[in-house]
Amino acid sequence: MTPPQATRLDPPAKTESEERIIIRGGKPLYGQTKVFGAKNAVLKMMAAALLAKDVTILRNVPNLTDVHMMGEVLRHLGAKVEVANDEVKIDATNLTEIEAPYELVSQLRASFVVLGPLLARCREAKVSLPGGCAIGERRIDLHERGLKLLGAEVGIDHGYVFASAQKLVGTRIYLDRPSNGATENIMLAAVLAEGQTIIENAAQDPEIVNLADCVNAMGGKISGAGTYQIVIDGVPLEEMHGAVVDTIPDRLEVGTFLYACMAAGGEVVIDGVKPDHIYAVISKIHEMGVECSIYAPDTIKIKSTGRLKPTDITTVPYPGFPTDLQAPVMAVLAVAEGTSIVTETIYENRFMQVGELRRMGADIQLKANSAIVKGVPKLMGAEVKSSDLRAAACLIIAGLGADGITEVTGLSHLDRGYDRLEERLRSLGADIYRR
Ligand code: EPU
Repeated sequence: MTPPQATRLDPPAKTESEERIIIRGGKPLYGQTKVFGAKNAVLKMMAAALLAKDVTILRNVPNLTDVHMMGEVLRHLGAKVEVANDEVKIDATNLTEIEAPYELVSQLRASFVVLGPLLARCREAKVSLPGGCAIGERRIDLHERGLKLLGAEVGIDHGYVFASAQKLVGTRIYLDRPSNGATENIMLAAVLAEGQTIIENAAQDPEIVNLADCVNAMGGKISGAGTYQIVIDGVPLEEMHGAVVDTIPDRLEVGTFLYACMAAGGEVVIDGVKPDHIYAVISKIHEMGVECSIYAPDTIKIKSTGRLKPTDITTVPYPGFPTDLQAPVMAVLAVAEGTSIVTETIYENRFMQVGELRRMGADIQLKANSAIVKGVPKLMGAEVKSSDLRAAACLIIAGLGADGITEVTGLSHLDRGYDRLEERLRSLGADIYRR
């Protein structure tokens, strides 16, 4: 029998790109879950593995498309990379390339961090500029300036950054803003420089500390990571060696689970957390009237019943409230009892979730870099599309508390940064699945 011909009113055939997460909202979350390793730490430690002619093993690695993509970038440079279970093994004994091409870097902007280690190790590097991004301009001027101060010649030509140096020499480098990427690239380049480098106004994020600990385990000499001043004493390449390093827990994933519980209601215990890493987030949760307690050394328990209180939030560099949780927290403020103001100071365009939340009934107005969020009693399920990783998390959180069914598309973003999020939410009682 021949299949019926499509008529003009038939919906277009479903393609793989339309894969979606479907949530029937209103089911409270109960139970216990464990946080996985931090994406933004592991990707940088993978790049750091280039600093030794040896094998580095990273443990507690989440299964994310970004991790696999970073593996591709390192393979392209000549490293042998194995990603299995929750470990990544990188053998960087022989590097054969100094170029990270556009096809790869454009898919994973974090891979721009190979610039520093490649330059340090090979004296030369050619790395594609990552290109546009949905959430903001994401400049690299501070990376460029820092590497120049270390003595490299750095130029941009035909979409690539070229850097070269006979030798890098340590110096004092002030960053106009505490950029994560610039801190990482400069720190990794300085590991093999002659003499001492001091980075002033460095990013203080826990992922930077994990990266410095990783480099030190490989024979590097970095101190002060986690403060505004990082000191790197250069060592020769011959002194660098492989290491086995654990990835820190993902504080952004912890925040995501906490907000999921606040949206749906219920009582959830999260294990494997470093509570100090999310102090700002917990403090804001308390302001919203929710019970959230830390049980030493690494457990957080949240109990959320009833309506949330509104609160104002401003994103700032660590240890302030993280920009990466700005969209997720908006999903819960959208149903708070009153008005909250959310101000984004890190990116120029990180309110892409707002239009989608409005489709779910949220009352949000944008004014310059602030969102005025007037809480409504309930969101309504709708079809929504995520524009970036954290917007995807926001829409899933919103769906967990909404009336009716929410369908979230744009899942390639989600899979870059969350390992089986929907399965883990389902194990806590959410009615959520992927189709
Ligand atoms: N900036 C400059 N000049 C520079 C570098 C940065 O002006 O040379 C600006 C950027 O344009 C941006 C701000 O500084 O507005 C922050 O940039 P930063 O360099 O700190 O960010 P990043 O290293 O590119 C990492 C995370 C982001 C996270 C930011 C801020 C990774 C892979 N990415 O990006 O994570 O938002 O730090 O904390 O570590 C995410 O996980 O969803 C994500 C986007």
